Amino acid sequence: MSKFLKRTPFITEDGSASLRLDELPEHYHSMHGAYRESMHIYIKSGLHFFPDFAVIKILEMGFGTGLNAALTLCNKGNRLINYHTIEAYPLTLEEVGLLNYKTYIGDKYYSEFLRMHSVQTGEKICIDKGYEFTKTINTMEHTELEGGYQLIYYDAFGPEIQPELWTAKVFDKLYAAMASNSILVTYCAKGSVKRNMKAAGFEVESLEGPPGKREITRCFKK
Ligand SMILES: C[S@@+](CC[C@H](N)C(=O)[O-])C[C@H]1O[C@@H](n2cnc3c(N)ncnc32)[C@H](O)[C@@H]1O
Repeated sequence: MSKFLKRTPFITEDGSASLRLDELPEHYHSMHGAYRESMHIYIKSGLHFFPDFAVIKILEMGFGTGLNAALTLCNKGNRLINYHTIEAYPLTLEEVGLLNYKTYIGDKYYSEFLRMHSVQTGEKICIDKGYEFTKTINTMEHTELEGGYQLIYYDAFGPEIQPELWTAKVFDKLYAAMASNSILVTYCAKGSVKRNMKAAGFEVESLEGPPGKREITRCFKK
């Protein structure tokens, strides 16, 4: 059984829930605020980098609690989103029910959030006008990427826990799957990871992080 499957919910400093792994020193989000982190890194530095009315194909590595996918839905404005997420160790609906995300997502989208958790692997669903969603239940290493992504949310567990997901080889694969003028955003600002991103061909920018984190990383493919 994978060491990523035993996890326990906890409340982060901004009041939003997250999960911690029972067998490894790792969380699904920052202890300083899951909601604040997701909004700062993936929505404000990622999704909102693109203008309103843009058509954006998004790849998320690590669907996890589904918080990034749900906040993308809530904050998309008039953008047209095709959202593809990969998750090797999906949560059960019972685990999802322990998270207090209705407060952050709102009643209107909460049932859609549950639907995102329930879909079969590879099934494409239309969540709302302008938001298509597909989930691949597999490891990223074994997933063939469709390509043409304008935005990647790279939200794997940290390089101390899963170094194999932060190598130049992985960033080569992501770079090849991205469209021209596209970006990748991640919470990770480790020097060796940024060097691997540069080796894959990315232009790498450090941005101010959310509370409790000095920097985050945004990469560009020209
Ligand atoms: C930092 S958490 C993701 C947080 C998530 N974006 C959220 O908002 O809850 C990392 C996620 O990657 C998943 N994961 C771990 N190894 C993976 C792999 N090799 N391929 C795909 N997903 C993986 C974990 O199960 C976990 O859900």
